[in-house]
Formats: sequence, C-alpha cells, structure tokens
Amino acid sequence: MRSILTHHPPSPIQELTDERLITKGIRLLVKRDDLLRLNEQSAFCGNKWRKLKYNLQEAHRRGLSILLSFGGAFSNHLAALAEAGQAFDFQTIGIVRGEKISNSTLRFCEQCGMHLHFMDRETYRQKEHPDFLEKLQEQFGDFYLLPEGGTNELALQGCAEIMSEVQEYHRNEFPDFIATACGTGGTLAGIVQGLKGQSQAIGFSVLKGNFLQQEVEKLLSKKSENPLSNWQIQSDYHFGGYAKFSSELIDFMNDFKKDFGIQLDPIYTGKLFFGLFDLIQKDFFTPGSIILAVHTGGLQGIEGFNERFGDLIS
Ligand SMILES: Cc1ncc(COP(=O)(O)O)c(C=O)c1O
Repeated sequence: MRSILTHHPPSPIQELTDERLITKGIRLLVKRDDLLRLNEQSAFCGNKWRKLKYNLQEAHRRGLSILLSFGGAFSNHLAALAEAGQAFDFQTIGIVRGEKISNSTLRFCEQCGMHLHFMDRETYRQKEHPDFLEKLQEQFGDFYLLPEGGTNELALQGCAEIMSEVQEYHRNEFPDFIATACGTGGTLAGIVQGLKGQSQAIGFSVLKGNFLQQEVEKLLSKKSENPLSNWQIQSDYHFGGYAKFSSELIDFMNDFKKDFGIQLDPIYTGKLFFGLFDLIQKDFFTPGSIILAVHTGGLQGIEGFNERFGDLIS
C-alpha cells in the first residue's frame, strides 16, 4: 500500500477574513481537506480520503483485490473509490442506483476502470441484506464491501484524524465549534470521536428529514456505551433535499470563490458554508468563538451539475 495514505502532511487550515465575521467577533477557519488528494483533479479527496484510508488498508490486509460499493449516479463516494482502486491496484465494482445513464461522474468511474452495475431502485434497497450480498458475492467473487457513502467504523477512525491533526498543530487555539456537511453522518460521527468530548461539533444536513440524529447516535454508540453528546445537527439548510438548490445558494458559492479563492460544491460544502454564514449573522455563536469548518471536497460533482443545469457554477 503506497505510503502516501499513511504518511501525508496534515491538510492546511485557512482563515477567512470578512466583514461579516469581523462585525460579529467570529473567527472562521477552513480545514482544507479538499487539498488532501492524489492530484489536482482527484475525486479521491476530502472526507473520501479520510473514510477510505483505513478501509483500503484493511482490504489489502485481508488479501482482497476487489472493492464493491453502492451509490447514486452522481456519487462522490463511487468516484473516489474508482480512483483509489486504480491508484492502489484494486478492481472496483460500483452498484449504481437507478437506470443506466451517462454523466461525468460515471464516465470518470469507468475511466478509472470501475465496473458499473446499474440496479433498479427496489432491488438496490436491499443493499444491506445478507442474502442479497451473498448473491453479489456469487456474481462478482470475493470482495471487500463498503457500504453506501463509505460509512463504517474504519471510516470514522479516518475522520477522527481530522481532529488529531488540529489538536497537534493548533493546540493553542483549538476551535470552539467544528462544522461539517452531513449525508450519512459518518464524517460528523468520526469528528465527534476525534474530539473526545472537547468543543461542539455541528453537522449541516444536506438531506430532508430527521433521521440523521438517530444515525449519528447509532454510529457513536457502536464505540462506547456512554456516547459523546457534544454535537448537534442543523437541519434548516438542505434547500429542499439532496441535490436541490436555489439561485441564492449558487450566488453564495460563486461569491465565496471570488472572495476567498475556495471552490465549493452545490451538494455539500455550499450548504455548509451558507448555513454557517447565516447562523453567524443570526448571532448563533457568541462573540469570540472560533469555528473550524471542514471542506470535505466533492468538487468532482460540479461538472455533472453544470452539465445538467447549465453552467451555473463558476
Ligand atoms: C463532499 C462531501 N461532503 C460531505 C459528505 C457527507 O459525509 P457523510 O456521508 O459522512 O455524512 C459527503 C458524502 O458523502 C460528501 O461527498
């Protein structure tokens, strides 16, 4: 396994300078996990790097050469898995929800050598059922299974390292709040584990519904009987649900890039930073607070988004 996975420098932290922050007495730092990547175009970056890192090592340790996982047609996770597979000599199989389509994410997966297998939504729903997984083993051979979104215990272990990096290099000004976008809740749960009771973690849900609270509780209780409670979910910034958006969100993201030189994606990080600036403006944080927002990557999705909706994102 290439040592880049185990020996990489910590992702940089960039502080944002902005009137909206100064007037409220807030410091906003960005943990640039989007820069944790194999090359400038990498889909294997951000929280995917953190989540896959120990899983790739585990698959290697078990002597399994095939990685199989699940995702939608625009899945950052499948794109990252495909690229990681190519880089670290695994065959990859992506089970894609819904009927066969072509978009830039799926073309990228195929270019990386991933075998795509499209599945109707009803069958896809069985993705965690043991009988169904056994059938997949019969069809594809012995594989290392990664759940949808790549969330499992080893993924949490990788995400917890975000906090050990901050602890090591920014001990003197440890943030009061850590913010991240949430899909399955795995990244948030990993961050909470890494915090070990210190500070507050805030997950911004990009999906409609209230299931995330329970999901994160479940993920945390696997590790300990007294799960940590220094976290919360913000559920007012999903913009109508997964991959839904408004022109206000798009304008915010395009301005953000102009102001800070940081590209955001419309599915996850755009909603995270929009929500953070809104909460700051509404005095959710007391003056003097330091917030660290994790840029979890996801930029590979922009091409497909622009392809689908017109070139909205600059
Ligand atoms: C770029 C990006 N950020 C955040 C998330 C949310 O991560 P999680 O599913 O661990 O909550 C995802 C999800 O897959 C993602 O692709």
